Amino acid sequence: MNLHPVDIQTQAPVIFQCFQKRTPLLTAGDDRVCNTMTIGWGQLGTLWNLPVCTVYVRPERYTYQFMEAQDYFTVSFLPEDRRDALRLCGSKSGRDLDKIGACGLTVCRGAGNAPFFGEAELVLVCKKLFAQDLTPESVRDARVDRSYSPAMGGWHRMYTGEVVEVYAR
Ligand SMILES: Cc1cc2nc3c(=O)[nH]c(=O)nc-3n(C[C@H](O)[C@H](O)[C@H](O)COP(=O)(O)O)c2cc1C
Repeated sequence: MNLHPVDIQTQAPVIFQCFQKRTPLLTAGDDRVCNTMTIGWGQLGTLWNLPVCTVYVRPERYTYQFMEAQDYFTVSFLPEDRRDALRLCGSKSGRDLDKIGACGLTVCRGAGNAPFFGEAELVLVCKKLFAQDLTPESVRDARVDRSYSPAMGGWHRMYTGEVVEVYAR
C-alpha cells in the first residue's frame, strides 16, 4: 500500500478539516467479514486526555452490528475522484451487496486487525472507548429533531474511539 503511519499530533491540523469538507467511509469487522458505509457526521478532538474520533450510526445500518461486535473501527477518507464509492456505500446496504468488492477497494489492516482501505488519502484507526445512544430526552434545540422521524430511522448510537493510528499519503 502507498500509505504510511504518521504522527497524530503533526497531522492534527489536517484532521480537523476532515468532517467539514469530506464524507469518509466508516468500516468495522474481523478478519473474516467486514462492512463499510459513508458517514457525514463525526468529530475529532480531545477527550479523557486522548485524541478521539466520534461517529454516529443508526441502528438500522448493517455496519451497526460490526460496530457493536468489534473493539476497533476505522475512518477512511478517499480521494475526490472516488465519489462513486462514497455514493454506493452511502446508498446500498452491505446486507444486499458486497460494497467493498463492487467499489474495487483494497482492505488493509491496522491496529487490532481493523480493516481500512488502501485507496484512502487519510485513515484514522480508532479503538472504542465509549458508546451511547442519542435520545430525544437529551435534545436542547428543536433543529436536532429534524434529523429524526420514523421514516428516517432510529436515533443514532454515538461511538467515541481513541485515534490509535493515522495513515496518510
Ligand atoms: C453523505 C452521506 C452521509 C451519511 N452519514 C451517515 C451517518 O453519519 N450515520 C449513519 O448512520 N448513516 C449515514 N449515512 C447513511 C448510510 O451511509 C447508508 O444508510 C448506508 O447504505 C448504510 O450501509 P450499511 O447498511 O451497509 O451499513 C450517510 C449517507 C450519505 C450518502
